[in-house]
Amino acid sequence: MRIRSFEDYEKAYKESVEDPESFWGEVAQEFVWKKPWKKVLEWDFNNYDVKWFKGGKMNITENCLDRHAHNKPNQPAIIWEPNDPAEESITLTYKVLFDRVCSFANVLKKNGVVKGDIVCIYMPMIPELTIAVLACARIGAIHSVVFGGFSAQSIADRINDSQCKMVITTDGAVRGAKHVPMKDTVDDALIGCPSVKKVIVATHTRTPVSMIKGRDAWWEHEVKLVSADCPAEEMDSEDPLFILYTSGSTGKPKGVVHTCGGYMIYSTYTFQNVFQYDPGDVFFCTADVGWITGHSYIIYGPLASGAQSLMFEGVPTYPDAGRFWDIIDKHKVNIFYTAPTAIRSLMGFGDEYFKEKDLSSLKVLGSVGEPINEEAWHWYNDNIGKGKCPIVDTWWQTETGGIMISPLAGITKTKPSFATLPLPGIQPMLVDEHGVEIEGNGVNGNLVIKFPWPSIIRTTWGDHERCKTTYFSTYPGLYFTGDGCQRDEDGYYKITGRVDDVINVSGHRIGTAEVENALNMHTGVVESAVVGYPHDIKGQGIYAYIICEETPEDPEMTKRDILMTVTRVIGPIAKPDKILFVSGLPKTRSGKIMRRILRKIAEGDVKNLGDISTLLDPTVVEEIVKGAGY
Ligand code: WT7
Repeated sequence: MRIRSFEDYEKAYKESVEDPESFWGEVAQEFVWKKPWKKVLEWDFNNYDVKWFKGGKMNITENCLDRHAHNKPNQPAIIWEPNDPAEESITLTYKVLFDRVCSFANVLKKNGVVKGDIVCIYMPMIPELTIAVLACARIGAIHSVVFGGFSAQSIADRINDSQCKMVITTDGAVRGAKHVPMKDTVDDALIGCPSVKKVIVATHTRTPVSMIKGRDAWWEHEVKLVSADCPAEEMDSEDPLFILYTSGSTGKPKGVVHTCGGYMIYSTYTFQNVFQYDPGDVFFCTADVGWITGHSYIIYGPLASGAQSLMFEGVPTYPDAGRFWDIIDKHKVNIFYTAPTAIRSLMGFGDEYFKEKDLSSLKVLGSVGEPINEEAWHWYNDNIGKGKCPIVDTWWQTETGGIMISPLAGITKTKPSFATLPLPGIQPMLVDEHGVEIEGNGVNGNLVIKFPWPSIIRTTWGDHERCKTTYFSTYPGLYFTGDGCQRDEDGYYKITGRVDDVINVSGHRIGTAEVENALNMHTGVVESAVVGYPHDIKGQGIYAYIICEETPEDPEMTKRDILMTVTRVIGPIAKPDKILFVSGLPKTRSGKIMRRILRKIAEGDVKNLGDISTLLDPTVVEEIVKGAGY
C-alpha cells in the first residue's frame, strides 16, 4: 500500500483507474477482516448507491487497537497535550488505550446502547473523546460527534435529526483562558430531546454540574463496574460507522454518513501515503475531533496505522502565540498538520514566537480546510519548515472522508497554493455550468469526481433523496464537490473556493442560509442576506445585510444583540463579522436575492456591480453601496 517514489505513484494511479477493484482489493488485504468480501465495488451515480467490499465483515477497532496492542503494547498511541502547559501531558500506549476503550464499550452496553444506536459525543479535546469514539465503534454504535463550540440549539437539532439515545460529555472544558460549560449546555439541549435516555459525564474541570437521577451517570463511576474485556462486534463493511453534520447551501445541516470498511481503508491509505508516515514518527494534527479532519487524521487513519497521534486540548495562542512550536519542540513532532487560518494568525505575531524553538524534528508540514495563499505558504515553508519540509496542501471534504487531491510528501513536486495531483483512486474532472467536461490543461471549471472511492459519503442521515440532489443532480452521473478549480499547464489542481452558498470561515463550513435563519429569528429582523468576503486571517468573513422593522435606535447595541442570537442558535463560529442595516435587498422580479451584487459590495468592489437593470428596484443598490461606506 505504501508509495515511495513518483514512479510508484504513477503506477498506482494508473492501476487504480484501469482496474479499481483489484487495486483496492489489494490494499484491503492489509487490514484485519473477520470474513472476506464477496465483491469489491458496486456503484451507481445516477440513482446514487455505492457499496465497497460487499459482504465483508470486520471491526475498525480491531484494526486500530487489537493488533497493535498485541504487537507493540507499549508504543504510544495517543500523546495528549493539555491546555495548560504547566500540567502534565499524558501518553496512552496501545495496550492502555485498548483496555480503556473496551471497558468504556462495556459501559455503553451496560447503559443500554446496542449495535445501530446513535450516540452523540460533545466533548473537549481530551483522551476520553477518542476513547468514547472508539468504544462506540467497538460495539457497532454509530457516533455523532458534535463540535464543542456548537450551541445547545445546534446540539438539539443534531440529536433530534438522528434520534440519539445517549450523550457523552464532560462537566466543563478549558480553551485558552476560557472556561466552557459542557454539561450545562447539554442540559439545555436535552430539554427538547426526548430520544436521549442516558448521559455519561466525564469529569475534567470539576465545574459543578447538575446530575439527574436515572439519566446522568459519571464516567469514572461507570467504568469501575465493568470489565476491560469486550469482543469487537462483527460489522458489515457497509454498516454505518458514524454521522458527522456539515453545512450546505440549505438551512439545515446534513448528517454525512460514512461506513466501516471503505472509510477505514481510505483514511488509512491516505494517512500513510500523503504524510509518508514512518513507524515511530509523532504526528500532530491540530484539528478538533468535532470535524472530519480529526476523525480521519487524529483517530482512525493514524491508529489503524499503529502511529503516534498527538492530541492537543488548547488553542494556538495560549499561553502565547508560540504554543504550537512549543508542542513540536516538547514532543519532537515529525509531521505537523494545520489550517491556513492558524498559519495566517500566527504569522501576525512576529518571529520571536518560533525563533528560539527547536523545530528540527519536523519532516513534513500539512495544510487543510481552505485555500492556502502564497504568502502563508512561504511563511510556513521558510520559518517552520526551514525550507526542508515538504508542504502537503490537502484538498478534501467531510463527504469525501479522506484526502482527495494532495502532494505526497517528498514525492510530488509542490507548488505554492496548489493541491497538485489526485491520489490513487480519485478521478477528478472539470466541467462548465452545463456539465460539459473541460478537457486539457490551463483551464478553469467546477470540480466533480466521476468515479467512487472507498470513503465517499453513502447517504445523508434519514434523507437519501437529499444526498442524491445535493451531490449527484447538479451534474447527473457525477459527484459535485461545490468547489471551483483551476488545472494549470502542468495538470496541477488548485482549488479556488466554493461556488455555492457556503462560506469557509477559518476552515469551517458555514451555510449562508443557516446564518440567515438565525438572524431572522432575532426580534425586529424582517429579512437578511448573508455573503462571504475576503478576510485576512479567517480566509472568508461573514457579511450580513439586515432589514429591520424599524431603524435601530442604537445600531451598535442592536448588532451586539443580534450576535448573541446567532451565538445561541448556532454557536460563536457563525457570528457575522460585519452587519449592515439596509431598507431593502437587491431582488430580481421573481423575488430572488442577487447575492452576486451583495458579494461585490462586501468585497468593496462597488465599481463592478454588473448589470443591475433586471432588479425589481435598482435604487436599493445605490442605498446599500452608500450605507457600506462608499
Ligand atoms: C471544503 C470542505 C476536510 C477538510 C476540512 C474541511 C475547502 C478543504 C482545502 C484545500 C482549498 C479546501 C473546500 C471544500 N477546502 N481543503 N486544501 N484547499 N480548499 O472540510 O468542512 O467539509 O469543508 O473546504 O472548499 O469543499 P469541510
